[in-house]
Amino acid sequence: MLLPDHIAIIMDGNGRWAKQRKHNRFFGHIRGAKVAYSIIEECAKINLKYLTLYAFSTENWKRPKTEVSLLMSLLLKHLAKEQKKLMDNNISFHTIGNTQELPIEVQKLLSETYEVTKNNTGMKLTFALNYGGKQEIINATKEMYKSIEDGKIKASDINQDLFNSYLQSSFLPNPDLIIRTSNEQRLSNFFLWQAAYSEFYFCEKFWPDFDLSDLNNAIDSFNNRSRRFGNIDSKLSDPPSPRVHQ
Ligand code: IPE
Ligand code: IPE
Ligand code: MG
Repeated sequence: MLLPDHIAIIMDGNGRWAKQRKHNRFFGHIRGAKVAYSIIEECAKINLKYLTLYAFSTENWKRPKTEVSLLMSLLLKHLAKEQKKLMDNNISFHTIGNTQELPIEVQKLLSETYEVTKNNTGMKLTFALNYGGKQEIINATKEMYKSIEDGKIKASDINQDLFNSYLQSSFLPNPDLIIRTSNEQRLSNFFLWQAAYSEFYFCEKFWPDFDLSDLNNAIDSFNNRSRRFGNIDSKLSDPPSPRVHQ
């Protein structure tokens, strides 16, 4: 089985999972956080190179303050607890998104976890926190504009590779496979630039029910896709044309 290099997951459906069980949304987030860490470990065990988890979008600030606080405190609680597991599994920890707007204690823990794990050579785990694809593109554009003003680059130098190098996520290859749970079929401002040729896998289950078998199903499905990147599939191409007799 061929493994994608980079899997990105939009972990969705915590609230509905809880509602189905007549609990409040918090219950779903608590369970969802646990599931995230077990999937991280599974992905490291199968030697995935890159795993990116969409954990908090720039639009998620619209939620009630109590829910946002709970999400931040879950992040604090689990990340502190899981550092050893990251070390044991040789995982390096990274973030994308505007983390400077997160509570200061979260920022501290994120940079501490990055520092502690940065020399690990196994899976690169990236949490997308206060992340928005549009914001990432705008920030890159501003930075590029600054470089032009400073005379470091010329407008005529701008091409896809250069633009990509200004993105905060430029240390990651584009995601090969994007999984979204809860049967919603949209990006919700995730990896807008990077998803140009990603394969999508939509899973009906809510995130707190996502398990190893669902991960394997997603990878199986990925293996049955034909990625053409605009080209033609050599297997599907026409047979050699018959000789035309004149
Ligand atoms: C995903 O679950 C978690 C985050 C977005 C932080 P939701 O909280 O979006 O759950 P639903 O989609 O409302 O069920
Ligand atoms: C996407 O889920 C963001 C994360 C999973 C972090 P949302 O629940 O915020 O997305 P919408 O609002 O349903 O599009
Ligand atoms: Mg949701």
